[in-house]
Amino acid sequence: MAESTNRTNANNRTVLVVGSGISGMTAAIALAEKGIRSILVSPFVSERSQSVMAAGGINAALDNMGEGDSVDKHIEDTLKGGCMIAGRDAVAGLCTSAPDIIRWLEKLGVVFTLNKNGKIDQRAFGGQSCRRTCYCGASTGKQIVSALVMECRRYEAMGLIERRLWNDFHSGLIRGGKCYGALLFNEARASLEAVYADAVIMATGGQNALFGKTTGSTQCDGYAAGRLFMQGAALKNLEFIQYHPTTMETSQKRMLISEAARGEGGRLYYEEDGKRVYFMEERFGSRGNLMPRDIVSRCMEETGKDIFLDVTHLGPDVIVAKIPEVRDLCLKYAGLDIKKESIPVKPSVHFFMGGLAADENHETNIENLYAVGECASRYHGANRLGGNSLLAAVHSGKTAASAIAASPAAADEGNAEASDLFAEYIQTEEEKIIRDFSSESKFPVMYIRDMAAEIMNTELGIVRDGDSLRKGISGLDYYIDIASRIRYDSSVLEYFNYSLPAILNLAKATMLSALERKESRGAHIRSDYPEASDEYAAGSLIMYNGGQFDITYDREGRFEH
Ligand code: FUM
Repeated sequence: MAESTNRTNANNRTVLVVGSGISGMTAAIALAEKGIRSILVSPFVSERSQSVMAAGGINAALDNMGEGDSVDKHIEDTLKGGCMIAGRDAVAGLCTSAPDIIRWLEKLGVVFTLNKNGKIDQRAFGGQSCRRTCYCGASTGKQIVSALVMECRRYEAMGLIERRLWNDFHSGLIRGGKCYGALLFNEARASLEAVYADAVIMATGGQNALFGKTTGSTQCDGYAAGRLFMQGAALKNLEFIQYHPTTMETSQKRMLISEAARGEGGRLYYEEDGKRVYFMEERFGSRGNLMPRDIVSRCMEETGKDIFLDVTHLGPDVIVAKIPEVRDLCLKYAGLDIKKESIPVKPSVHFFMGGLAADENHETNIENLYAVGECASRYHGANRLGGNSLLAAVHSGKTAASAIAASPAAADEGNAEASDLFAEYIQTEEEKIIRDFSSESKFPVMYIRDMAAEIMNTELGIVRDGDSLRKGISGLDYYIDIASRIRYDSSVLEYFNYSLPAILNLAKATMLSALERKESRGAHIRSDYPEASDEYAAGSLIMYNGGQFDITYDREGRFEH
């Protein structure tokens, strides 16, 4: 039987935050700072969220390196990196907030690496006109997560944050374009639980598992975005998928070789007739290795050669002091000593510029449903700059919390109204789960997820064209049909049993968005439409509309300004 949780706090406001990485925890803390109670749910502890994998750093125009950096330069670099389709106001808000965000994080105990003047050190990252990326040794994400976990615990002790583990998002409690809470799947009890709330903030990360092995966590499978899409949420810019230029194949995943290696002077090359060709420098001059990621990945692909990254010339002292994580990873996973040998690198899927369309408050097109962090699409246009994702995670969490705090509190009768509205829906979903779990199916869920990932990798690579995309869509349609007949697969967690339709429809929406954008821009490269076109100089929006996928372009800037 589904359990339900009501709004109970003193000021009659409870916010449900789904996902407890950096953006989710920031939102919960920012709400608590304003005296608003939140329920912070996730299947795992925060220390296992994808946020801990972020090694590179976080951008802020502090100008600690004395290069004349400014917020205006950060804004221009971000807009240019995103190929001019991110909204100027959105980007200005992000970059303007960055210095305060760094101070806030320091106050919470994040220990940034300092330069010789005792100020926070700043790294060169791709597409940036100044050294702007603040970092904590080799583990920026981990340090930020640790500080936020401690702050959450403080507010837990005060009753302002309630932490619930082992909870997966099942679906939104949505009626008439308004969100009243969410249905969660409690893994420990193997049952559904309805949580009613004044607002729901989604902080569920990107959709890495759509592509199988990536630099990210396979926990981030896009299920929540896909399910909300099928419930009426608009998705934006799905076709812009960032391939990070320097990753290394390992048996578990694509290991990220941080852009910091090129920021410190690492050089990309291939070999021809026994000689090294530094193709990025030949094409773009001395900053060639630090062009934005879309450009570097595309150039690597165009060479058709095996590419290597050389850092040996930096010398052991710089390697140990500045990029110890790269040295350790290469040694541990490939037995490679980067002080002496070059690293074989390949681009692979790293980040999703697209996701739930979020407006200036980080609210979606569904009232009271917010999206923050990588599951939201707002700042990065057609390509994200390194170091802007941790920044956007914190900024978006704070923005959503401020907007919720500024909105009028719901009336007391909200709960009663909501439980009536959803009683039938919850019962149907429960029955489906009981029915599905009691009748075995011959279709293995993980096999279909793997097949879908293969289709995504093959037909939606760095360079795509109409034929490959149409082939991908028909392959996904085949599995969408099978997924509708899946019952129970006892070899996987219960949660996986109901995840397929949402994941496959998200994959299809991504392919369709790529097919519809008949141009090349940033991370979306079409060999059949090689130039950028003014006709598409806007974010794409896709809606599910009962199984009919409708695509428009956000030319009026509803989600951009
Ligand atoms: O290369 C990196 O360290 C990645 C950083 C980022 O994606 O922001």
